[in-house]
Amino acid sequence: MKTTEKNFVITVDGPSGAGKSTISKQIATQLNLIYIDTGAMYRSVAWAAQKQGISLTDTAALDQLMSNIKIRFQAADDKNLVFCNGYDVTTEIRTPQIDQLASAVSGIPLVRDALLPLQRKAAQGYPAIIDGRDAGTVIFPEAELKIYLDADLKARARRRLKDQAASAQINLQSVTQAIADRDAADSSRAQAPLRMADDAILIDSTNLSIEDVCEKILQLFHARFNKHDEEPVHE
Ligand code: DC
Repeated sequence: MKTTEKNFVITVDGPSGAGKSTISKQIATQLNLIYIDTGAMYRSVAWAAQKQGISLTDTAALDQLMSNIKIRFQAADDKNLVFCNGYDVTTEIRTPQIDQLASAVSGIPLVRDALLPLQRKAAQGYPAIIDGRDAGTVIFPEAELKIYLDADLKARARRRLKDQAASAQINLQSVTQAIADRDAADSSRAQAPLRMADDAILIDSTNLSIEDVCEKILQLFHARFNKHDEEPVHE
């Protein structure tokens, strides 16, 4: 991949289930951008802690884990493969158990402090789209385009249920509760809580299709960068 002279960053923040990763992946493909899924990084930390039997209250062991952790992404067709310490964890980090553990992990300051430089480094040298909770407020406060993607709780729970339909242990009520709990944890933690950056643009996707949301973001992108749809961002 060739670097453009002018690299830029698009951030997409918002609560669980708003569609951030689906939409960011599509925008990345259409504009030929690097896609960085920061939620997958917290999930990878949770996965690694679980695999190594590390308790989240064991600060020394967590510190050690964070100083050696290797997380990388690899685009493959329409998938974004995630590797942690050499393992392909793409599927394993999407279980309800890792949902909960990642949420707990993301409230630990030493984990956030250790991931921050890795998140910035992942986007270095390339135009990128990065999704998460604090991408526009903390990771890239100078990003050229910031989106805050929201949707009402019921709509988000229905989407999550559809994604996880293979599991018999979940239903709409339990998914709604789990998302509400994660919203509360994400918004109330002391460090880098979920909030909309002052210069972000709000898109409410409750009644919008994925295509509608992508179209809106592409319009914002082209308006901001004064480019035409056909013009590739880089080769
Ligand atoms: O977006 P996700 O569900 O994959 O995120 C997993 C967890 O990580 C979720 O509880 C929120 C947290 N997270 C965070 O605190 N900051 C980010 N930039 C991304 C995710």
